[in-house]
Amino acid sequence: MPYLDRSPLLKCLRGMVCLLILVVTAKIVTIYVDYFPPNFSADFLIGRKPEFYGSYQWAFYTHILTGPITLIFGMLLLSDRFRIRFRRWHSRIGKVQVTLILLLLVPSGFWMAFYAQSDLTVKLGFATLSIVTGLSAALGWWFAVHRNFPLHRLWMQRCYVLLCSAVVTRVVGGALLTSGVESEWTNALPAWINWIIPLAIFEIISRSAMSQSALPRPNEPPPVAEAFRYVKSNESGV
Ligand code: HEM
Repeated sequence: MPYLDRSPLLKCLRGMVCLLILVVTAKIVTIYVDYFPPNFSADFLIGRKPEFYGSYQWAFYTHILTGPITLIFGMLLLSDRFRIRFRRWHSRIGKVQVTLILLLLVPSGFWMAFYAQSDLTVKLGFATLSIVTGLSAALGWWFAVHRNFPLHRLWMQRCYVLLCSAVVTRVVGGALLTSGVESEWTNALPAWINWIIPLAIFEIISRSAMSQSALPRPNEPPPVAEAFRYVKSNESGV
């Protein structure tokens, strides 16, 4: 995204988003005191005791341990500065990231989706999110292996936007709670809109950046074909 990458406004916005992700991730992790050992009177675990000691605990612990790591790794991997300075580390951490997402985070999220204490719409929302996240990570990895780096980058950016649904859920959930508009339907919304809306915004921004990068820059000579046509038209006086 050549134009957008250089804009100071976008740099500032990106810094703020990174800070928000870090703060929310730290906040998520502080709640873990209620999970080690499980405290069944803590918010998320209320009413989950019957299923917890079955397969759920394995999915749950796998999920909550890998989730924050993938958010931090993702931030590092998407940084151009980090990639350029530490090319080898980008590749090593990238392999760990794809393994964590495909083998641990996504399967555990998919499993937990069907235990969500809500209706089928919510369960399907979480399940779809895990499938789409897994697909993005797999495609990002596939394009890296085949050295198609623009598409590798695009799919990994998509994957990170989807991982950030965990952050969006907490931010939106907190906002709804404090504004007092929480209800039956607002409880069902996060499972869908907290990843569809950020993904749609990302698609709009990346498409507009791609179309802008196809235009010649203000101080850049026009592409050869354009320049040739320009000279010809001047010669013929058109
Ligand atoms: C994008 C893939 C992800 C999917 C499909 C997913 C799915 C889920 C599901 C289904 C639940 C249980 C929800 C319920 O029963 O109401 C859950 C809980 C949880 N997820 Fe994820 N998740 C994903 C990413 C993440 C990430 C990146 C983090 C990083 C912080 C994370 C952290 C957690 C935590 C800590 C919980 C336990 C509930 C809590 O303490 O708020 N998840 N996730």
